[in-house]
Amino acid sequence: MLCKNLTVKDGRLRFAGMEPGELMRAFGSPLYVMDENRIREKCRIYRDAMIAAFGETSFPIYASKACCFKEMYRIIGSEGLGADVVSIGEIATAKAAGFDLSKAFYHSNSKSDEEIRLAAEAGVGYIVADGEEEIRAIDRILGEMGKRQKVLLRITPGIDPHTYAEVATGLVDSKFGEAIETGQAARFVALALSLPHVEVAGYHCHVGSQVHDADVFIRSAEKMLAFIDSMRKAHGYLPEFLDLGGGYGVRYEESDPDLDLAASIAEIGAFLKKRCGEMDMPVPAVILEPGRSIAADAGMTLYTVNCVKRIPGYKNYVAVDGGMGDNPRYALYEAPYTVVLPRRMDEKGTVRYDVVGKFCESGDVIQPGVLLPEEIRRGEILAVLTTGAYNYSMASHYNRVPKLPVVMIKDGEARVVVRRETPEDLFAFDV
Ligand SMILES: Cc1ncc(COP(=O)(O)O)c(C=O)c1O
Repeated sequence: MLCKNLTVKDGRLRFAGMEPGELMRAFGSPLYVMDENRIREKCRIYRDAMIAAFGETSFPIYASKACCFKEMYRIIGSEGLGADVVSIGEIATAKAAGFDLSKAFYHSNSKSDEEIRLAAEAGVGYIVADGEEEIRAIDRILGEMGKRQKVLLRITPGIDPHTYAEVATGLVDSKFGEAIETGQAARFVALALSLPHVEVAGYHCHVGSQVHDADVFIRSAEKMLAFIDSMRKAHGYLPEFLDLGGGYGVRYEESDPDLDLAASIAEIGAFLKKRCGEMDMPVPAVILEPGRSIAADAGMTLYTVNCVKRIPGYKNYVAVDGGMGDNPRYALYEAPYTVVLPRRMDEKGTVRYDVVGKFCESGDVIQPGVLLPEEIRRGEILAVLTTGAYNYSMASHYNRVPKLPVVMIKDGEARVVVRRETPEDLFAFDV
């Protein structure tokens, strides 16, 4: 199975020890379910591996964009993680959950004056400045507030992660950060160090997502260390933090590698120590920003089959009661998923079906060409695995379909952490 929280007993799937059928009876369909113990386990793996690899001052910050609601902040906060936040909405959610915002890092390549002010007023610990124009704005606004703000500077190392183009963010022509290659990063640092209302705590870079080894991190660390050295020579400045971003992958399909996170982080640590030794440079405290690898395999989506359509000589469809409104990732970038019938795990898949949703777009596909048993009936339960990241957080109200609830499972108990929306919720803002 893709993850150890998935088991099969008497031909039936169990997720975090619970049966999908029971969960649907209790909470309705369609439904996101999440496994709290798995989230906590991943937080601890990151925390412990980072301390072992980089030292006590290094830590993970959870990339909230992967899956953001109050209970997520309570869970990651209680595990000692910081948070990467990218909007006033994420900051407000974290605050409402009682999360310590001094451990929040505010990203985004496009922050308005008002957003910068709100973030500073809320007490966000660090703003990750995306470029020259923005750092001038941060300095001006914090000056008006009579404060000084800790910042990280987002640098583009020019690394290709070799995963999906849509999630590659570290290339020279990226919309994020200032590039080393063009000389803009060096100018950015010189400017930031000269401003009175910002305190430069370090550098940030993020290269891509769904990476399965240390190679991408090591390549970007190599570039960043050379940059740190050149800035040390130019300005005598050494960063407290080197934030290498997020990006570790998960298993969406059986063919995906089963990554040993701790071993991979140890590899990055060994590289940093060796390279810093060669460069006669102190090793900076390291921050990693895992999102997908904390949340994805802690989640699953349960649907009910509404319709099976066979077009002889062409295609077969299984249409469920959700779709691109709750999981737009195949429509966006043909993301792979594993689809199963939780009550028929022992039956062999013999026919290929496109598993599609209920939304008014032909592109509303959850996964094409899925091998399933020949006879599938209206009313059956269908599960899409590994949906804990970038599903709930990317959900939309297209077709005015209410968003799904999120049910969190812990030690055999299931509780609603985000309630199901009603049609009334949808027009609550209409006048
Ligand atoms: C700056 C930054 N940090 C962290 C992440 C999280 O990446 P992942 O969910 O792949 O770990 C992203 C994802 O887009 C990102 O842009």
